[in-house]
Amino acid sequence: MSSTLITNIGSLVTNDPSRPGLLGTVERAAVVIDGSVVTWTGAAADAPAADQRIDAEGRALLPGFVDSHAHLVFAGDRTAEFNARMSGQAYTAGGIRTTVAATRAAGDAELDANLARFVAEALRQGTTTIECKSGYGLTVADEARALRIAAAHTAETTYLGAHVVAPEYADDPAGYVDLVTGEMLDACAPHARWVDVFCETGAFDGDQARAVLTAGIKRGLIPRVHANQLSYGPGVQLAVELGAASADHCTHLTDADVSALAEGETVATLLPGAEFSTRAPYPDARRLLAAGATVALSTDCNPGSSFTSSMAFCIAVAVREMGMTPDEAVHAATAGGARALRRTDVGHIAPGARADLLLLDAPSPVHLAYRPGVPLTAAVWRAGVREV
Ligand code: NIG
Ligand code: FE
Repeated sequence: MSSTLITNIGSLVTNDPSRPGLLGTVERAAVVIDGSVVTWTGAAADAPAADQRIDAEGRALLPGFVDSHAHLVFAGDRTAEFNARMSGQAYTAGGIRTTVAATRAAGDAELDANLARFVAEALRQGTTTIECKSGYGLTVADEARALRIAAAHTAETTYLGAHVVAPEYADDPAGYVDLVTGEMLDACAPHARWVDVFCETGAFDGDQARAVLTAGIKRGLIPRVHANQLSYGPGVQLAVELGAASADHCTHLTDADVSALAEGETVATLLPGAEFSTRAPYPDARRLLAAGATVALSTDCNPGSSFTSSMAFCIAVAVREMGMTPDEAVHAATAGGARALRRTDVGHIAPGARADLLLLDAPSPVHLAYRPGVPLTAAVWRAGVREV
């Protein structure tokens, strides 16, 4: 193993709560990495020697983004649906079935290649940890295959057999819930860390969502919930009650939902790409932060409601449209995502952390919001390996 000193960093985002400011920023900083981990951080003037030296030329260095919510095992696209929506048509949960048909028809190699392409696309933009859900198969074999393929690319795999009721069960949703909590769960659990459910009108109601999540918990999976995306509903309260790691979307929240998130351990994961791409009102991040909730930002990358892999884009929208400061948005996209995935090795830069680093082509992380749409990746390391 050889060590690398990255020095002359204009602004180092550590997310270390013991340092001042939300981002624990160190100016004129340096970082040493050795093998797959960070071994030293601090002022450049105090940096130890290392085998190699990289001059950051005054640029900003951040933890790699942690994208805690994505749906990347699929085939086909939904350009026509997006186009129709931008001409006034509403988004509904039913569009998922279009992707289900295309995904079932695809071979394993095609799905694997699609996923690899999205993971690489995200990595080029600074995402070093990415979660990936099933949910476009909706048969025992197709859901298990999606998770098997996902597990080859990420440790953060989520069983989402309960994305919508499979078309074959349109007249028997209870039968589909039995399948999702029985035979399908048995086939999927070995390949998954998490269990998720789309709790929404047109998908699964509160009782069905509870059945799905509790069955998953019994099999050792940890819950996370698609909650309160398109309408008010029981998703957030259920997530908090079951100790879910995250309640995702959180677009339509009552005061009681906000209080539950603030008082519980469940992270509120906001997905502004979905509101952007469905022309819907954005969630109110300010309200959640003011109440004391932990907020994460993620892409929700999927072919229907949010076909972006760009965490920088989500940060820019969150700042412009959701009341977040640039520091809050950067924190939510790094440390927040790590909390939502219950990961202590990523989302921050400190000795012992995984060496997941994003060097920006900018002097400050504020530029992620200040320069929307501009590619700002100068370099990316994942587990100490220079990838970009
Ligand atoms: O997070 N909400 C449910 N699932 C996705 C949408 C999937 C789709 O439309 O294909 C979401 O927005
Ligand atoms: Fe989603």
